[in-house]
Amino acid sequence: MVSKKVQSIKPSGVRAIFDMAKEDSINLGLGELDFRPPQKVIEACKKALDADSYRYGPTMGIPELRSKIAKKISKYNQEISAANVMITASGTQGALATFQTLFEEGDEVLIPDPGFVIYSPECTLSGAKPVPYIMDEALNIDVEVLKERISPQTKGIVVNSPANPCGSVLSEEAFRTIGDLAEDYDLWIISDEVYENFIYEGQHHSFNEYLDHAVVLNSFSKCFAVAGWRMGYLSAPESIMNEISKMQYHILACPPGPFQYALCEAFESQEAFIEEIFPILKKRRDLTTDLLNEIPGFSCPRPKGAFYAFPEYELALPSAEFAVQLANQGVLCSPGTAFGDAGEGHLRISYAASEENIEKGIAIIADFVKSQR
Ligand SMILES: Cc1ncc(COP(=O)(O)O)c(C=O)c1O
Repeated sequence: MVSKKVQSIKPSGVRAIFDMAKEDSINLGLGELDFRPPQKVIEACKKALDADSYRYGPTMGIPELRSKIAKKISKYNQEISAANVMITASGTQGALATFQTLFEEGDEVLIPDPGFVIYSPECTLSGAKPVPYIMDEALNIDVEVLKERISPQTKGIVVNSPANPCGSVLSEEAFRTIGDLAEDYDLWIISDEVYENFIYEGQHHSFNEYLDHAVVLNSFSKCFAVAGWRMGYLSAPESIMNEISKMQYHILACPPGPFQYALCEAFESQEAFIEEIFPILKKRRDLTTDLLNEIPGFSCPRPKGAFYAFPEYELALPSAEFAVQLANQGVLCSPGTAFGDAGEGHLRISYAASEENIEKGIAIIADFVKSQR
């Protein structure tokens, strides 16, 4: 009764644990910042609701916001203009529109494993086959492994830096190699850069530089802490914008008006907001990594970006079961396998939570591990 495509995709393993939350659960599961958005954006949203923002708008989003985004990302590529930018109703929807536009039956798309939960199902829904590429020991992309996975059917490579769940940041060398591969093999890069503002060590390299061969996905969920507004954007070569726009129309018609006006009016407050929260997140990262590494059998590289730690553990317990047991003990985190088969033996701990909750949550994990040894 239901299409084979939909039957073949799994629900998110992150959500499965989130749905087990009790009232007093400590949430180290979701990638959602616990900060209030900047006051300016809230005020601008109230103003937009009072104004004439309740009608259908342009499918690609309001021109003022597209222009502001284009100006911002033109630091990576001076040729980018508003014609390369589309507002989406979240990074997730932008990814769906992109996969549906670019890929089809018979194509293969390389996806990171471990990698964010939407890539594989969205690839499958487009008809293409997701082909996982495995990270190296330090959870970085190994470009040699990536190269080996390229076949005559390969049409795209999904790259996510800073990475969820690995917390790794692409080196300049790996970035250039992947850009060159896309040009040499005539592939699309789908670059998910929603964590571009959250880099503690290293520097962001944006595939906006390679825009002839790339669609770059971004989101307002993290940089403005408005995950519930479901707002994002993407940039792509002008030659395919009409095609992605057709897809966007059939998914959405147009992105929500009030949030676009609000984000446009408060756009410039983003920088100050990030500056304010960045040192807090960096401190939380260090606390999380240090505490996890104190648990016997746990080993956790210090993440260079995003807001996730991805420790490996030695217990003989599948990660899905481990996460369920921990949820029963009162702490929510995500099983490594929610992000692909290579995530087995790992948990993902989000440190987008208060220091107090990080300490309490990791203490529960430590106690549970002790009880199992
Ligand atoms: C790597 C990555 N890409 C995309 C998204 C989706 O963001 P949005 O809230 O805009 O759908 C997330 C959300 O956690 C993410 O971690």
